[in-house]
Amino acid sequence: MQARVEASLASALPNANLAPEQLHDAMRYAALGGGKRVRALLLYAAGEVSAAPPKRLDIAAAAVELVHAYSLVHDDLPCMDDDVLRRGKPTCHIQYDEATALLVGDSLHSLAFELMADFVLADDAKRQLQMVATLAQAAGSRGMAGGQAIDLASVDKPLSLPELEFMHIHKTGALIRAAVRLGVMAGGDLPDDALKSLDQFAKRIGLAFQVIDDVLDAQSNTATLGKTAGKDAENNKPTYVSIMGACGARNYARDLQQQAEDGLSALGSRAGRLCNIGHYIIKREY
Ligand code: IPE
Ligand code: IPE
Ligand code: MG
Ligand code: MG
Ligand code: MG
Repeated sequence: MQARVEASLASALPNANLAPEQLHDAMRYAALGGGKRVRALLLYAAGEVSAAPPKRLDIAAAAVELVHAYSLVHDDLPCMDDDVLRRGKPTCHIQYDEATALLVGDSLHSLAFELMADFVLADDAKRQLQMVATLAQAAGSRGMAGGQAIDLASVDKPLSLPELEFMHIHKTGALIRAAVRLGVMAGGDLPDDALKSLDQFAKRIGLAFQVIDDVLDAQSNTATLGKTAGKDAENNKPTYVSIMGACGARNYARDLQQQAEDGLSALGSRAGRLCNIGHYIIKREY
């Protein structure tokens, strides 16, 4: 499945020999050849629940991974987390330069929406427009970008648990939630209660994903992570580890995953792949 995501991204991204060559080369550098593709996997698994055509899912999954790749390029910039390693390679601004990294982010973001508009992704145009709006909202100031703003404003500040949860749900949870929603929307109609439980699942698993990211930052090492370990403490960021300790954070992530899975029980085997990804999210080592 990861290879399938890689192939869709490779064909969606402009060729590196097209002008401006350096920008296109850097876009491919940032988006290809790495990443767990968790958001794409969730989108495909959600699409299975609504029996969505796989070709639609290819496009929507590529769009979500492009937005995610853009967010990582900007997250690593000196004005944000100031990181030099990502997916086991020098970060985009180290490999190229800061201005290029800024433009790579801009361009990956735009390309995501170009894809969402260029291909048929839903049974009717109105539904497709809702999908575009879903991704836009998740990426914007009331979603991921807003969460990133809170993250930066929280350096050196002890946040309360509800404040930390609000930050994580936005900076990371929003895009994961959108991935599940887009997969579902690409298929046929589902009853309201099924939609609600899928959304609850995505919300919980999105939060669990960032809780584990915090744990791994504190407990793993740079070689395994492919990004600099210990960055959160170094940058004095409030995290689930700084508030409840690594053990407490792991237990909390496990509780969230269990609740997420329990909420899907009524969907039966159609939700099996979503549950497997939920397990993977809390068991992963990088
Ligand atoms: C890292 O996301 C940034 C967060 C939102 C926690 P991933 O851990 O999904 O990064 P890749 O795509 O696998 O590199
Ligand atoms: C990143 O959170 C969230 C987004 C990129 C939106 P982190 O700053 O914790 O991600 P990593 O640890 O650098 O991957
Ligand atoms: Mg960050
Ligand atoms: Mg970071
Ligand atoms: Mg992190």
